[in-house]
Amino acid sequence: MKGQNSFSAIDIGSSKIRVISAKLEEGSDQLKITGYTEVPSFGMRKGIIVDATEITNAIAKAIEENERTTGEPIESVWASVDGAHFESENSKGVIAVSRADNEISEEDLIRVEEAAQAISLSNNREILHVTPRSYIIDGQEGIKDPVGMVGIRLEAETNIITASSPILKNLTKCLEQANPEIEELIAAPLAASLTVLTQRQKELGTIVIDIGSATTGIVVYVEGEIFYLTVIPIGSSHITNDIAIALKTSVEIAEKIKLEYGFASSNEIDKKEKIPLGQLDPKNSEAEEEISRKEVAKVIEARIREILGLVQKELKKIGYAGQLPAGVILTGGGSKLPGLVDITKDELGLPAQVGFPIELKGVVDQLDDPSAATVIGLLIYGIKSLGSRHEFREKFKGGGEGILARIKDWFRSFLP
Ligand SMILES: Nc1ncnc2c1ncn2[C@@H]1O[C@H](COP(=O)(O)OP(=O)(O)OP(=O)(O)O)[C@@H](O)[C@H]1O
Ligand SMILES: [Mg+2]
Repeated sequence: MKGQNSFSAIDIGSSKIRVISAKLEEGSDQLKITGYTEVPSFGMRKGIIVDATEITNAIAKAIEENERTTGEPIESVWASVDGAHFESENSKGVIAVSRADNEISEEDLIRVEEAAQAISLSNNREILHVTPRSYIIDGQEGIKDPVGMVGIRLEAETNIITASSPILKNLTKCLEQANPEIEELIAAPLAASLTVLTQRQKELGTIVIDIGSATTGIVVYVEGEIFYLTVIPIGSSHITNDIAIALKTSVEIAEKIKLEYGFASSNEIDKKEKIPLGQLDPKNSEAEEEISRKEVAKVIEARIREILGLVQKELKKIGYAGQLPAGVILTGGGSKLPGLVDITKDELGLPAQVGFPIELKGVVDQLDDPSAATVIGLLIYGIKSLGSRHEFREKFKGGGEGILARIKDWFRSFLP
């Protein structure tokens, strides 16, 4: 853990690597962002490392740039892990309350959480996240904070996210070669969900759809806690590729077209609207001077409907299709596509909106953007988990006592 009260996080995406550093300011209650940097990512496919040297170099560059901006070395990071290898299951643990007076202690919570983790795992998988969803004391359901309550039998309903061990190992190796120590690896969509949702949305039931470049992450919250997480190995770069094929143009030009003229709902585009392809791609003599914006929108819409169709399939699988009152929160760079919200409402039959990350102090404009949701979420996850760590409490005992209190205040400020 790096000196005093600075924290850093790194989101290793398929298109970009993003690094954020922040400080808890002495004497004030503020968490201040000290530096945010992003560099292009190389060596990833579908959210998974395919070229270790390339990704290690890119990570090293991302870290260096951030250190240059803040003027401080990054010693450790919370880092994202992505890809279609996650599995999510809800598991129950049961224990007998240990104290003679039957009062439930922190220790009981640790034991019951451990009991819930007794799931069968093949030898190339491991548990990445365990989230207690709620507790049951002697048959009484729906208890959120059982410590101090009295009972004989304690059950914990938990959500468990598992991941492929080789994928985690490879990522760990690349990060370590690029130098920083790893605090923890966190599933990218989980991180993104932490910064685009209010507690109320989580209570009502909601789904976050993080549309990245190569992946689309889904996180479902029910009754305030995570219920399901999965990653679909299709993202916004597939739209770009589809446009390139349809127009017989390069991927670079197709990306330009998507960003400048892209629209997700073809019905809303007038047949007469044109895109000056010849102007965008002067080197391509075969490129027609002008192309129909509506035709491009049709290509985009087809892929978006495919992605949302796969999301709906996941919702059906877990029994929540059309059943999440707080609706859909779209985030990630791919969520910036105009017209996407309407197609989402139509395809999933739920309210929908684009989710921006919560506001932080000292923030660069770049962070007020759905594509920064994951990296900000990693920072939040990190600071939150530090606050509950024993060695951190020890370290900041006495004189530093205020830091924990400030972390708590800081978190409370996000609650609606
Ligand atoms: N204004 C926009 N309109 C449409 N698409 C956009 C816009 N801005 C960015 N994108 C797309 O968003 C994608 C990048 O999103 P993001 O930065 O969230 O991905 P990533 O985190 O690098 O990738 P992944 O999460 O898949 O590993 C790119 O495909 C890009 O074309
Ligand atoms: Mg991403």
